[in-house]
Amino acid sequence: MKALILSGGKGTRLRPLTYTGAKQLIPVANKPILWYGIEAIVSAGITEIGIIISPETGKEIQLKTGNGDRFGAKITYILQSEPLGLAHAVKTAADFLGDAPFIMYLGDNLIEDSLDSFLVDFKKEDLDALILLKSVRNPTAFGVAKVNERGQVLELIEKPKDPPSNLALVGIYFFSPEIHQAIATIKPSARGELEITDAIQALIDQQKPVAARQLTHWWLDTGKKDDLLEANRIILDTRLESEISTEIDPNSQIIGRVQIGKNSKIINSTIRGPVIIGQDCHIENCFIGPYSSIADGVRAIDVDLEHSVILQNAKVENIHQRIVDSVIGQRAVLKVAPRRPKALRFTIGDDSQIELVRSIE
Ligand code: TTP
Repeated sequence: MKALILSGGKGTRLRPLTYTGAKQLIPVANKPILWYGIEAIVSAGITEIGIIISPETGKEIQLKTGNGDRFGAKITYILQSEPLGLAHAVKTAADFLGDAPFIMYLGDNLIEDSLDSFLVDFKKEDLDALILLKSVRNPTAFGVAKVNERGQVLELIEKPKDPPSNLALVGIYFFSPEIHQAIATIKPSARGELEITDAIQALIDQQKPVAARQLTHWWLDTGKKDDLLEANRIILDTRLESEISTEIDPNSQIIGRVQIGKNSKIINSTIRGPVIIGQDCHIENCFIGPYSSIADGVRAIDVDLEHSVILQNAKVENIHQRIVDSVIGQRAVLKVAPRRPKALRFTIGDDSQIELVRSIE
């Protein structure tokens, strides 16, 4: 059994963060999203992992993630020259996959359930495809499955206007090598992509065994800002362990589960967990509230913040309204003059969003 993680794509929905970096490397609780998937795959006992990368962000993913030693895996990087669809990514990885069955894992997806029991069912039932489903409130935004009472998949429909169920397709699939011939039969969709849903539908039409399992716990697709904040909240809530690796000055207060990395200075501040703060940060006269992740090298002075993600080396200074539900990119600077400011001065990247709101909803 091998694994194929899809970490190419364009990441348009997470602009501007994805102008300068790979979507899959954006941290959730200070760890790249992609690494959660790698860890889940390795803990299911699969160590031969191929990662699909794009020409734009592939180098960064390779440099950061390495050859797999840190995960106890062997990682092979596979370049997809254009993001022509999930099934196209499988086609691109044909040499790596050979005739092995494999898990296909979208590099921006996170699930709480372990992969183990799904893998056991996939092998035991000798399936050609096992898909994972999760009930959602807005099925029209997803690929949706029509399933019979025995868990057999009858039909898959991409973003249906009139959904046959509320069961959305999660970005984790188990395939036998039969998927390759199914992909060979499909044509690009209206959006010009080779869709994996069409390939699975081809297996269903050929009466091949395709089954589905429903996730019992959470699933997050971190492709958008709100999902990213939600992933951050859930991971901090469920997986963060307290660990303070630096000196805290006596005028500061640490409450609840908080992790702080080496060489970070916490001066005259209150940190109310769950919160993670990386290494080499300078936090002074701040309130850092629940569900915040602060990456390495961040400087925050005179700031009140919660439920937010601040990326590496950003600087936030002298902001007295509470910062909430925010994602602040690497090296970004957000600063207000010490006395009542008379003007606002911005240098804002394309597609950035700044909202000055009246109240916290
Ligand atoms: P998507 O989120 O569907 O696509 P995207 O990354 O291009 O994002 P957006 O819609 O915001 O522009 O892709 C799911 C995952 O699969 C993601 O990790 C990127 C990856 N992917 C590939 O590796 N190759 C592809 O051809 C496509 C379409 C996606």
